Amino acid sequence: MSTPERFPLVSRILHWVMAVLVLGMLAIGFAMVTSLGGYQFLQAVHRPLGALVLALAVVRIAYRLRRRPPPAPLGRLERLAATGSELLLYALLVAQPLVGWAMLSAAGTPVVLFGSLRLPAITPADADLYAVLRTTHTVLAYALFLTFTAHLLAVLFHALVLRDGLLSRMTFRKR
Ligand code: HEM
Repeated sequence: MSTPERFPLVSRILHWVMAVLVLGMLAIGFAMVTSLGGYQFLQAVHRPLGALVLALAVVRIAYRLRRRPPPAPLGRLERLAATGSELLLYALLVAQPLVGWAMLSAAGTPVVLFGSLRLPAITPADADLYAVLRTTHTVLAYALFLTFTAHLLAVLFHALVLRDGLLSRMTFRKR
């Protein structure tokens, strides 16, 4: 079987950096709402990392629009499902940090990144709006987790069962 062409290096780096960041953000977010201690520290990490995810997601989408991905060893239906889940992931990677930012703006809380560096409010302070955005942040977190898991399972199926080299398009290992 021929070895499939790889994604450009920039795409591969962005992919793995963001995978780690998003998993970390999900874990930190759930820890914030379930653990009894360390809330201030977790919040102080969650906000700047969330802003970084948003910035990297924008760069990644811009890069993806300029560079076509290499062909994948997929059938028509599977390609359709892969494209749909990819679009959903990109949408969630932009929406989730924006909702987090809007939620704190609606709460009237400044979004502090580091020291005195803050993001401007993007919504008016409004308790009802805060409640809607707070629920939305939870729903999007579950959607992100489910989409991420589906993506991971599909890739594992290709790597361990079909062994068609799909995963190697996104890795750095010498061939
Ligand atoms: C990829 C980006 C992000 C992910 C994956 C993420 C994930 C999460 C998760 C899983 C929770 C817990 C939700 C729950 O179970 O109710 C949470 C809570 C929260 N997130 Fe995020 N978040 C992201 C970005 C942001 C950003 C950019 C901000 C603000 C600038 C933010 C602010 C908050 C706040 C204030 C809470 C609520 C804590 C509480 O109610 O005590 N998040 N986040």
